[in-house]
Amino acid sequence: MALSISPTWRTSQQASGDPFGVARLERFYAWHSLIYDWTRPLILFGRVPLLDGLEIRVGDRVLDIGCGTGWALPRLARRGAHVVGVECARAMLARARQRAVRLRDAGRQITFDERPYGSHDAYRGAADAIVFSYSLSMMPPFEAVLASARSDLRRGGSIAVVDFLEAANAMVGRWLSANHVALGDARLRRLMDLFPQHGVSVRRAPLWTYYLFWGTAD
Ligand SMILES: C[S@@+](CC[C@H](N)C(=O)[O-])C[C@H]1O[C@@H](n2cnc3c(N)ncnc32)[C@H](O)[C@@H]1O
Repeated sequence: MALSISPTWRTSQQASGDPFGVARLERFYAWHSLIYDWTRPLILFGRVPLLDGLEIRVGDRVLDIGCGTGWALPRLARRGAHVVGVECARAMLARARQRAVRLRDAGRQITFDERPYGSHDAYRGAADAIVFSYSLSMMPPFEAVLASARSDLRRGGSIAVVDFLEAANAMVGRWLSANHVALGDARLRRLMDLFPQHGVSVRRAPLWTYYLFWGTAD
């Protein structure tokens, strides 16, 4: 699959009014990228069971959408996948790239794509699996993003999503919202519509509920 990344996409994003909120993500993660790897394990529940429930074969092309600092990259690459880390915030991408250097030295296949996912159609039918680990809730145009995921997966390909669902109270809701997280079941409902063959697990953490979703493209 050709990865044709246009160096001009940032300009075109600005011209189109930044529908993916890249400027906002860049501002947020300029600082948060520095503390991300030691704070998020305390918050982002369910990432390990999500990947455990995702079937991957050696040689599969897996898109890790919103890969952040690359938490999932070694876990996917160790299973023999060729992983594409899709990440539009430069500070996060820089950290993921550092992580990938060590993995590539160990013979793992990892590449990166800095374009906002959903903004192009370069992967149509070319992905064996797609992962959204706590990234879908940060994507305002989620309908377009999920339509892309559906089109990018080959027939029989898998999608796995873990994300926040509801806050336990209004104060927690405001805090998540200040962290650019959109709550509610709209994304989960869309996933269930687009992938009729699916499994869902809704789980309770002390301050919120979150969901795990696994689906297959028919
Ligand atoms: C909360 S972090 C999750 C990172 C990682 N997946 C994890 O589990 O630790 C969400 C990431 O999604 C990225 N993101 C949000 N919208 C995106 C888009 N449309 N395309 C690519 N990355 C995006 C953000 O910049 C951020 O790094």
